[in-house]
Amino acid sequence: MTIWPIIPAAGVGSRMQADRPKQYLTLANGLLIDHTLRLLLDHPACQQVVLALATDDPYWRGSEFSDDARILRVAGGQERCHSVLNALNAILDQAHDDDWALVHDVARPCLHHSDIDALLAAAQQHPQGALLATPTRDTMKRGNSEQCVQHTVEREQLWHALTPQLFPLKALHQALEQCLAQQLTVTDECSAMEHMGWQPRLVEGRSDNIKITRPADLALAEWFLQQREA
Ligand code: C5P
Repeated sequence: MTIWPIIPAAGVGSRMQADRPKQYLTLANGLLIDHTLRLLLDHPACQQVVLALATDDPYWRGSEFSDDARILRVAGGQERCHSVLNALNAILDQAHDDDWALVHDVARPCLHHSDIDALLAAAQQHPQGALLATPTRDTMKRGNSEQCVQHTVEREQLWHALTPQLFPLKALHQALEQCLAQQLTVTDECSAMEHMGWQPRLVEGRSDNIKITRPADLALAEWFLQQREA
C-alpha cells in the first residue's frame, strides 16, 4: 500500500487581497508553499508529492522545491476539485488497487505529523477513508436570503472539515469523475465520497491546523510555527 500525497495549489486566494496567490506569500522564514511541502516530504509515509499548480504560474520557480525530483507537477483546474482530479489522473496508471490518496490544501502550513499519523491509523480501521476535523464550538445559525436568522442549528454533531483527507485512490478518482460529470458541488474530497454513499471517519485534529485565508491568518500561522520551534 502506497500513500500518494496530493497538494492542490492552483488557487488565486483572492480573499487575501495580495499581489500574488497566497501560497507564494512569505511566512516565517520562507514561502507558505514551502512550509507545506516540507512538512509533507519530511513525513516517513510521503516519498513524493503530486502538486497541482496553475498552468501560467510564474512564482513556482521561486520555491526552494522547484527543482526537487520528489515533486510531480500537474496542471491545476478551474476549481479545487478539478485540480485534485488532474493530480489523480496523472498517477492513476502507476497506482495499485490498495493505494491511498492523501489530499492536503497548500494553505494549511501548520499541520503536525501527529495528525497525519492519526489519520493513517484511522484509515487502517476504516476502509471508507478519513479526514481531519474539529468539533464546532460556536452556536450555529442558519440564515435566510435577507441575512436574518431562520433557526439555530444543533451543533452537537457538527464538525469543521480540515485537510488532509485520506481515501482509497481509485475510489476517490471515480467519485470525483462522477460528481463532476453530474455537476454536483464538491468542496472537499469527502463530499465526493459522500455523494457515492460513503461514510468516512472524522478524526479530531489539532485546532492550529488553520487555513490561511485572510491577512490576519498569516500572523497567526507564523506564531504557531514559532511555538513549534521554541
Ligand atoms: O481558496 P481556498 O483556500 O479555499 O482553496 C483551497 C485549496 O485549493 C488551496 O490549496 C488552493 O490553492 C487550491 N485550489 C486549486 N485549484 C483551484 C482553486 C483552489 O488547487 N482552481
